[in-house]
Amino acid sequence: AVSDEMIALLPKVELHVHLEGTLEPTRIAQLADLAGKELPRPLDRIFETTDLSDFLAFLDWTGRLVTSPDLAGELAYDFAARAARDNTMYAEVIINPTHWGALSLDDLLAGVAAGFDRAQADGLADCRILPSILRQQSEAEAVDLANHLAEHQPHRVVGLSIDGDEAVAGRTAPRFAAAYRIAKDAGLGLTAHAGESSGADGVRDALDLLGVDRLDHGIRAVEDPELVARLVDEGQPLNVCVTSNCRRMYPDVHHHPILELLAAGVNCTINTDDPAPMQCDLNGEFALVADAAGWDLTDTAAATATAIDAAFCDHATKADLR
Ligand code: HPA
Ligand code: ZN
Repeated sequence: AVSDEMIALLPKVELHVHLEGTLEPTRIAQLADLAGKELPRPLDRIFETTDLSDFLAFLDWTGRLVTSPDLAGELAYDFAARAARDNTMYAEVIINPTHWGALSLDDLLAGVAAGFDRAQADGLADCRILPSILRQQSEAEAVDLANHLAEHQPHRVVGLSIDGDEAVAGRTAPRFAAAYRIAKDAGLGLTAHAGESSGADGVRDALDLLGVDRLDHGIRAVEDPELVARLVDEGQPLNVCVTSNCRRMYPDVHHHPILELLAAGVNCTINTDDPAPMQCDLNGEFALVADAAGWDLTDTAAATATAIDAAFCDHATKADLR
C-alpha cells in the first residue's frame, strides 16, 4: 500500500486536464461580475449540469466571460499553481478555442502561454498546451485550426486534441483525419477523447483514422477484448480520469474499467479531466486508484513514468522529469 503522504510527495505529471474545467466558483463569480453577466444558477450550484452536453454548454458560457488575453493568462497561472500544490511538475492542458467565444485563437493561445511562462518562472508546474477540436465542428474548421498550429507553431503548443460529446456528434473520425494528418506532419503529438461518450468503435477510429499517439479516457475499450489486446500490444497509453467517469458513467472506482485495463497490461495514466466541477485533485485520483488496485510505491511511481513516456515534450524535458 502507499499512503496519501507518499502520494503527495511523489513528483507527478498530468496529461488530461481541460483549462475550462479548472475555474473555481469564486473565479467564475468574479469573471461574471467583471463582464456584467448574471450567473445561470446560484454559485453553490453553479456546476450542476444534467449531462456532458449541458456541461459543455456551461463551458461556453464561462469561456465567454474571459474577454482579454491577460485574463486567460491569469486562469493559466492559477492552474499551474493548482498543479504545483499536487506536486505536479509538468502538465499538458487541453484548451478548446470554441469555448472562448470572446477571444481570437491568437489572443487565447498567447494569453495562456504568457500565464504559463510566468508560472514556470515562479517555480510552478511547466505547462504545455493542447488546442482541441470540438466533435461538432466541420472538417474545414478542424483543418483551419491544424493549419494555424502548423504555420505559427504557437509557444507551448505540443499537440492536437479533440473533445466534446460523441454521443451527440455520432461517428466523426473520418471528418477529422485530414486535420490530424496536418498536425502530425507539423510534428505535433496527437491525442483524442474517445471511449468515454463513444464505445470501443470510437477508440478504434481514433487509432485507425486519426492515428493518435495516446487516448483521452479510452476506457470503454474494455467492452471489446480484442481491442484491449491491441492496446497492450501497441503500448497505447490511456489518460484515465476516474472521478470524472464515476460522475457520469460508473458507480465507483471498483466498477470503473481501469482495474481490468491495468490487470490486462494497458498503459494507464492518472488525470483529473475537469478538477473544479469534479471537485477532485491529482493526489486524490492517485490515492483512489492506488487503493483500489493495491498499488505500492513502485507501482504508483510507475504511473508517472508512463505519463512521462506518453508526454509530447522534447526528449531533454523528459530526461529532466525522470
Ligand atoms: N469530455 C469531453 N469533452 C470535454 C470534457 C469531457 O470530460 N471536459 C471538457 N471538455
Ligand atoms: Zn477530458
